[in-house]
Amino acid sequence: MKASIKVCVFASGTGSNFQAIMETESLACEIVLLVCDRPGAPVIDKAKQKQIPVHVFDPTSYPSKQAYEEELITVLREREVTWIFLAGYMRIIGAHLLQAYHGRIVNIHPSLLPKFPGKDAIEKAYRVKVNKTGVTVHYIDEGIDTGPIIAQQEVKIYPTDSLKTLTNRIQKVEHQLYPKVINQLIQNEG
Ligand code: GRF
Repeated sequence: MKASIKVCVFASGTGSNFQAIMETESLACEIVLLVCDRPGAPVIDKAKQKQIPVHVFDPTSYPSKQAYEEELITVLREREVTWIFLAGYMRIIGAHLLQAYHGRIVNIHPSLLPKFPGKDAIEKAYRVKVNKTGVTVHYIDEGIDTGPIIAQQEVKIYPTDSLKTLTNRIQKVEHQLYPKVINQLIQNEG
């Protein structure tokens, strides 16, 4: 179903989650824009291949976070975006955007939050030898990976795991969980 709910994905990197969302047949919304803060990031080509419009910006060419976020808000409103889904967006969302899209910015993080927030979460869990980690989908607030949790899924860490096998297993879970949660959020609001 391609409904009239218009959403935007923010991503800075490879874009495997973006791709998983985009390729979900039963997606209850339309991705009308990809926002990327890293010119040249592989995710940009993934969007272009599927004819999804892209807004790329270089944060270093703006005087402040407020300046580029104000521009972002204009672009998002022009496209009637009502939800923002972060998928590997490596920048903290500032007060302006948070206020404009209050309760409508969601992130995916590769750990069982509140454990292992921030960068390299899979590696941190692997190195401290916990026996499980996982994936969290949560709302964004002012902190780093601290917003209210929407959904979590556990991923076991086996003694035979390498960082790569664990990463692959976590990504597989991410690619299923995120589209599912996006659909639930959108369907819940009727
Ligand atoms: C994912 O692990 C996501 O949980 C984290 O950043 C990574 C993005 O990966 N926030 P990709 O670019 O979607 O492959």
